[in-house]
Order: sequence, then structure tokens, then C-alpha cells
Amino acid sequence: MKKINGNFYQKSIVSIDQFDAHDIEKVFDVADSYKKGLEKGTVFHDLEGKLLTALFYEPSSRTFGSFTAATQRLGGGIIPIQGVQFSSVVKGETLEDTIRVFASYSDAIALRHPEEGASKHAAEVSPVPIINAGDGVGEHPTQALLDLYTIKERLGRTEHLSIAMVGDLKYGRTVHSLSKLLSLYKNIVMYFVCPKTSQMPQDIVNLIKKRGVKIEIVSSIQPIIDKMDVLYMTRVQKERMDKKLYESIKDLFILNGRMAGRMKKKSIIMHPLPRIHEMTTDVDSNPRAVYFTHEVKNGMYVRMALLKLVLAK
Ligand code: CP
Repeated sequence: MKKINGNFYQKSIVSIDQFDAHDIEKVFDVADSYKKGLEKGTVFHDLEGKLLTALFYEPSSRTFGSFTAATQRLGGGIIPIQGVQFSSVVKGETLEDTIRVFASYSDAIALRHPEEGASKHAAEVSPVPIINAGDGVGEHPTQALLDLYTIKERLGRTEHLSIAMVGDLKYGRTVHSLSKLLSLYKNIVMYFVCPKTSQMPQDIVNLIKKRGVKIEIVSSIQPIIDKMDVLYMTRVQKERMDKKLYESIKDLFILNGRMAGRMKKKSIIMHPLPRIHEMTTDVDSNPRAVYFTHEVKNGMYVRMALLKLVLAK
């Protein structure tokens, strides 16, 4: 895919591999300005006359909701396809043809799809930009951007970080994108806390190691939790494995309020959500927990920024 290289206009956003640190700063600067504006009640018109198709072949609450909110907060319109069961996909229409159709109606398409590489494939046939809203076990680049935006906002930096990624690192696309994104910054130590059957894909490990990330693979949260700047919890991706494997790993790593209380005062607990078994609800009141208080809303600001940069001059 085309690198962003300082210019987002009319480009598809398929992978974190397209970004460098300057591109990320640009997204964050625009997101900051929208955040400040919305907090003081500014009404934006930057996407007036533009239409986004939110084409979701898989369930979603946050990504679908925040792309919709982001477009409407900027004065744009939305074609909401949340679940394709009422579309011609059920009659057998291919992804390529579906993309061509919605590209005829709209200025960009945010695509969620169960197959890795679907967004890249869609971008190859689409005359309008495709934004990857999650492609199977591949990537979730806009989630990684909102996660890093939240880290910067809460901790004041994107460098010199110790982060534990906990859970299903093989099938969880958010950690794939976030690892690659963090590897653009200096002095990052990543602790992977995951089942043996669900480790970070080797191509990502190789890439981020090459970029200087120090990786530790550990079998429990307990021995490292008090050293972490960021604890990034994830759910086990039930829909991407058989029942037997799911049952064998679903309860391996559970964060509770007592454990969370051992973290450094200036540290954060993140989760892309939805939360299932892996984090008890008593963590929510811990002041370090930012998933409901910051991450969710930051998703809207970051997606506003991306849509503006891709669609408006
Ligand atoms: N974080 C995330 O992608 O959530 P949804 O699946 O609800 O969009």
C-alpha cells in the first residue's frame, strides 16, 4: 500500500506499515483540535457534502459507532451497513462488486471484514479510499492510532515505555497494529503475556525486533505488573478458534482489582473492548483504567482526524 508520507488525501488506510512518526503526529494534532473544539461546543463542517459507507461484515460497537459519530460530527453523511445480512452479500455478491457499488455512492468506505487482507484487496479495486476497520486476524490500524493517542494523552509520551500485551496475541488484530505502531518509537519494551497456542505472529516479532523493540515473553501478569507503564488487556477471540481451544485458554490471564492496585501510580490499564472474562469489573474504578474514560471517546477524535485528512483538502 502507498505510504502516507505526509499526505493522506485520497489514500486508503489499510495498515500501520503506511505510517511514520510524522504522519502520526499529524493525525494527533488534528485529533487534538477536534477534541478541544467539541469540548467547547464547536460545530464542524469539514466533511459537509461527503458520504462515508460503513461496511461491516463483522459485529462492532465502537468502531462502527465512532466512525458514524466522527462523520456526523464533521457534517458528513453515512451509509450504515452494520452486518451484511440484509445486503446482496447474502445472495452471493463478492467483496469486489460490493465495494464497487458503495464506492459509486460514497466518498470513502470504512470496511470491517473477517478475512485478513480484505481491506488491501478492497483498496485495489476501489476508486475511493478504503479505511481498514479490522480485517480478520490481520490489523486494526485505527484502533492502534487511538490507543497510542490515549497513551500520549495519559502518560505524556510515546517513547520510553514498558507495555504488557495480555491475552490472545495470535488472533487479536489490535495488538498486531499496536506493536508495529509502538516500534516506531525509542526505548520500547514489550512483554507478551499469552497462551503458548496464541503467540504474537513471528513476522511481527521479527519486524519490531529489527526496529529495536525489546521483547520479553512471560507466562503470568503477576511478576511484571508493578513495572508496567501500560497494561494492555485483550479478550480471547472466540470467533476465530474452535471451542476446545477457546475453553482451554479463556481463563488463563485475568486481571482483577487487587492486581491492578499493584501498578505504578502513573501507569494505565487499556483494553480495546469488548471485555469478556479477562478483566473483572472492579478494575473499572481504578484511576489507571482508561478504556471507558478515554480510549472509547478518543476513537471518535482520531477517526474524525483521519476522515478529515483523507477526504478534505
Ligand atoms: N475495539 C473494537 O474494535 O471494538 P468493536 O469490535 O466493538 O468495534
